[in-house]
Amino acid sequence: AAPQTWSQRFETALHPAIARFNASISFDIELIEYDLSGSVAHAKMLGHTGIISAEETEQLVSGLERIRSEYRQGLFKPGTDAEDIHFAVERRLTQIAGDVGKKLHTARSRNDQVGTDTRLYLREQIQQIREQLRQYQHTLLTLAQANQDTLIPGYTHLQRAQPLCLAHHLLAYFEMAQRDWERLGEVYQRVNISPLGCGALAGTPFPIDRHYTAELLGFDEVYRNSLDGVSDRDFAIEFLCSASLILVHLSRLSEEIILWASEEFGFITLKDSCSTGSSIMPQKKNPDVPELVRGKTGRVFGHLQAMLVLMKGLPLAYNKDLQEDKEALFDAVKTVKGCLEAMTILLAEGIEFRKPRLEAAVASDFSNATDVADYLATKGVPFREAYNLVGKVVKTCLSADKLLKDLSLEEWKAIHPAFESDIYQAIAPRQVVAARNSYGGTGFEQVKRAIAQAQERLNSS
Ligand code: ARG
Repeated sequence: AAPQTWSQRFETALHPAIARFNASISFDIELIEYDLSGSVAHAKMLGHTGIISAEETEQLVSGLERIRSEYRQGLFKPGTDAEDIHFAVERRLTQIAGDVGKKLHTARSRNDQVGTDTRLYLREQIQQIREQLRQYQHTLLTLAQANQDTLIPGYTHLQRAQPLCLAHHLLAYFEMAQRDWERLGEVYQRVNISPLGCGALAGTPFPIDRHYTAELLGFDEVYRNSLDGVSDRDFAIEFLCSASLILVHLSRLSEEIILWASEEFGFITLKDSCSTGSSIMPQKKNPDVPELVRGKTGRVFGHLQAMLVLMKGLPLAYNKDLQEDKEALFDAVKTVKGCLEAMTILLAEGIEFRKPRLEAAVASDFSNATDVADYLATKGVPFREAYNLVGKVVKTCLSADKLLKDLSLEEWKAIHPAFESDIYQAIAPRQVVAARNSYGGTGFEQVKRAIAQAQERLNSS
């Protein structure tokens, strides 16, 4: 029979299926190191405040550290007999330290304990994800640096709009990642608050010192209200929001990479190290990495949705529903990390821009039409009038199967006497890009400045 978990109030053991249904050990094992750290801090606090003796504290702390090393060596493998990681650790501690192990849970509940563990876990994960975001940004920046001189068609409505400097396009994703990085830093501040000492819900009659444990564990603050401390998971929801936004951004880039790799666009080639083939079509090379990133995005949105729904009807304070926070969080963390890693590798070594194709693309469309209107506007023609005129020119060109650059100077002059021979220069793709030198625009000077600024931001953190 399973060892007695609950108090003597219970007469019979749990139904085995209910025990399985209730248990979280299969997934909250992920929290073991944080649970041990939280318990070490709690034990030290019990000694510091005189709730237990110095010798007892020492026995608890060394027992907990022994569990840590047993776990790391694969010697301690909590099985399915424990309900959750908290009981598993306490039971092992009592085997190691004897009866004194039973003192560890003085002035503590699993409710403040699990809240502490989850925050310690998330805190570390956020740091790792922010580090990964920096590497991803670094890779984007390197790619941008190498493509300051490359042009790419720019789109709105997925229709050719105006040509762009490729570096500018890549830096747009750098900026999104920058906000993701900052946002996670803000979430971190609200994750890094200690619920330890909130007890089951109401605090404890023992003379504990919550600031002491908070300090030992590196928390910046303590929850001011015990009910709030043990029962909200807003910090986890905020994380899931931020994680969702990271994936929104990665997914948009993925979509572009998938399009670019198609025969129809042909803007990039996928390197063998980052693409896959087909089991039947020998010619295929598939963009599985960006497709998976795009696909996995949905999982994280799902976890966010699940957590919001999980919370909305919960009365104060702890409810077992909250046990459901863990798998959502763990899977979201794993997914974000996996996607960031794969996308960073893909950008660093998995794609090659086909410069001749890009060059040809921007030279063979009407994405310089705005510049013809701008040309006339600079010569004093009201912009709307110029716009209407150029619309007509485009229509004529289309029916004659010509591009704007194919018109002769006489033809230009017939359209409007303000046209001079410098119109050809004004509508050349490189000039069209260079001209957009307004702050934050795609003009080469702006892009150069943006690259320097991006570099500075990476250096300063
Ligand atoms: N395994 C539980 C969880 O993850 C630990 C807290 C249980 N607390 C309780 N009062 N049943 O939420």
